[in-house]
Amino acid sequence: MILVTGGAGFIGSNFVLDWLVQHEEPVLNVDKLTYAGNLNNLARLQNDVRHQFVHADICDTEAMLSLLNKHQPTAIVHFAAESHVDRSIHGPAEFVRTNINGTFSLLEATRTYWSLLQENEKQVFRFLHVSTDEVYGSLGLKDAPFVETTAYAPNSPYSASKAASDHLVRSYHHTYGLPTLTTNCSNNYGPYHFPEKLIPLVIANALCGKPLPIYGDGQQVRDWLYVGDHCTAIRRVLEKGKPGETYNIGGWNEQTNLDVVHALCDMLDTLRPLANDCSYRAQITYVTDRPGHDRRYAIDASKIERELCWKPAETFNTGIKKTVQWYLDNQAWVADVQSGAYMNWLEKNYNQRDGAMDTHII
Ligand code: NAD
Ligand code: DAU
Repeated sequence: MILVTGGAGFIGSNFVLDWLVQHEEPVLNVDKLTYAGNLNNLARLQNDVRHQFVHADICDTEAMLSLLNKHQPTAIVHFAAESHVDRSIHGPAEFVRTNINGTFSLLEATRTYWSLLQENEKQVFRFLHVSTDEVYGSLGLKDAPFVETTAYAPNSPYSASKAASDHLVRSYHHTYGLPTLTTNCSNNYGPYHFPEKLIPLVIANALCGKPLPIYGDGQQVRDWLYVGDHCTAIRRVLEKGKPGETYNIGGWNEQTNLDVVHALCDMLDTLRPLANDCSYRAQITYVTDRPGHDRRYAIDASKIERELCWKPAETFNTGIKKTVQWYLDNQAWVADVQSGAYMNWLEKNYNQRDGAMDTHII
């Protein structure tokens, strides 16, 4: 059995679904079910005995240790985190709690569990920490993409909390010999992406006739990777990665935000044309920039390609087409996550702020 944290979130649920197609080995899915966790993502596993869900908080070291002792996993894949940069700007405390303290609690529980394993079990055990390219900070337009040895320079409370967790993971390998692996990935997109992030937000807003908010001049660059390719890369790192190493994962696919939004509008114009023959591009609205907005991220994925023979299968065109089609086919999922807890949170946190955040309420 493997233990997955955050397996009800965007990437975690894609990973669990993919894992159970590729493997017989069962999954213990540990998730606190914050606004971002959604068991509907895993609906198709309802009758699959290989998937066990546990509602728990990674900050609870005792609970984590007792799960480890009871289920004896051979690996942990750690996705659980607060993941949205804008939220980290408005409320960093939860990011420090889950991303730093939570990773620390999980590492402590894992260290205790691992230290009591038989020598051969200790050797094969892996702790895979899923992290982000944002820990490296922001690139200039002419800079070379991030490599694994690029110095850390996190700029938002989110990326700082992820950087801290990366350092803790590194230290548990160096100090205690825990067989850790760290992956730093670029922007993912695909099914089950929560509609607070650029791509699903734009698709959802476009279909409701709402503004498509572009922060600042829209010339910021992100390196987009289809979530299925990220899942394949994580499996590869788990199977073949060298303990103590970090691996950058990316799609060699840099795009400005404006280009991404244009591509989404054009795709929707084809797949769901507006009755009045207008383009969805007419809904684009420039809004106040994100404070401290990183200008450019780009990943050099040569190491994972060379050492672990991984390459993304999707191009941006094929991935974005699948993604738009998925959202068109799953509007009930979008309506569901846009209701209830999420809307309450937005009302409490955004509505009383200066106009900037109000402009991109979904
Ligand atoms: P997400 O916000 O969609 O999901 C996070 C999941 O973690 C949710 O299911 C949530 O309920 C759970 N969770 C949060 N706090 C928890 C806690 N204290 N205990 C247990 N579970 C908790 O995030 P995502 O986009 O799927 O990202 C997953 C991981 O990948 C994160 O660590 C993120 O930093 C990293 N990452 C994301 C991207 C991206 O583009 N989305 C890119 C690189 C790295
Ligand atoms: O780079 C990896 C990171 O990618 C992950 O670690 C994060 O968890 C993930 O959320 C993502 O962070 P970003 O901040 O890059 O993603 P987001 O979708 O929030 O924004 C993408 C870009 O689009 C960014 O430059 C901000 C901009 N943007 C975003 C939103 C939500 C807009 O212009 N308008 C918007 O409404």
